[in-house]
Amino acid sequence: MIEFCNVTKEYGSFLAVDHFNLEIPKGQFLGLIGPNGAGKTTLIQMFTGLLRPTSGEITINGVPVARENVELKRLIGVVPQHMNLDKELSVEQNMIFAAKLFGVNGKRREERINYLLDMMGLEEFRSRIARRLSGGMARKLMIARALIHDPQILVLDEPTTGVDLISRRKIWEILEVMRKHGKTILLTSHYIEEVEAFSDKIALIKNGKPVAEGSSTELKESIGTTTVAFAKGDTSMDYKFFKSREEAENFAKTLDVDHSLRGLSLEDVFYYYSKEN
Ligand SMILES: Nc1ncnc2c1ncn2[C@@H]1O[C@H](COP(=O)(O)OP(=O)(O)O)[C@@H](O)[C@H]1O
Ligand SMILES: [Mg+2]
Repeated sequence: MIEFCNVTKEYGSFLAVDHFNLEIPKGQFLGLIGPNGAGKTTLIQMFTGLLRPTSGEITINGVPVARENVELKRLIGVVPQHMNLDKELSVEQNMIFAAKLFGVNGKRREERINYLLDMMGLEEFRSRIARRLSGGMARKLMIARALIHDPQILVLDEPTTGVDLISRRKIWEILEVMRKHGKTILLTSHYIEEVEAFSDKIALIKNGKPVAEGSSTELKESIGTTTVAFAKGDTSMDYKFFKSREEAENFAKTLDVDHSLRGLSLEDVFYYYSKEN
């Protein structure tokens, strides 16, 4: 069980994370979504011990996370937002380096590396220098590396941003496998459909605060069932959300501009909370 308890992070006088509270039970897949600058990466860096909260506490099974806590580190696999492979090392050497850090040695190391490179479709690039990998391959290697010690918790910060379609599908397969293995997963993403597809629970964050939390269905139901999209001026659109199709139809009848009705999506929820002050 992971707990964020009143966590705040200030960069100088800028409040990036504001009294953030969240509980992630063991085995849950939590999707963290929010606009750019919402504080997602800051939260993840605090969770993985890279940044220290200004106040508040993050715990795993009641134990506070800290940079020095090696035992806790063994529980977590991290895929950071920015590429952090050793660019001058080969794919295999990057894996070996991570294995050594986590004390994965001998036959087990060989097995883990073979298994993970194969799972990620990187086997044939084993001796390629990381610098020469495509964005998608580099990201898959970062995921393989994060799994070297078979961690119970997996944290991925926008693992599919800037990744080609084929690699993105592969990453989705891996997320599904990890979920089936009962891992606790914390994922941030720009792609709402991917958060929706995997998450047991979604936390929507804005200006460092959670603004809504729940399953995809709960979040949608919290603002309605039906969306009316209508033209606003020549070049932009506006949206209104309704509890029932009937209310939406009644509103649509009052419009004298182009409009359409559709089922309310998670993207609408994101839009709704992103616009709200
Ligand atoms: N090292 C830093 N110094 C000052 N401000 C920062 C630093 N890192 C992030 N920020 C600011 O904190 C806010 C949250 O950033 P971040 O956690 O990266 O958001 P997200 O990952 O949701 O896009 C942003 O406004 C960002 O500009
Ligand atoms: Mg980020």
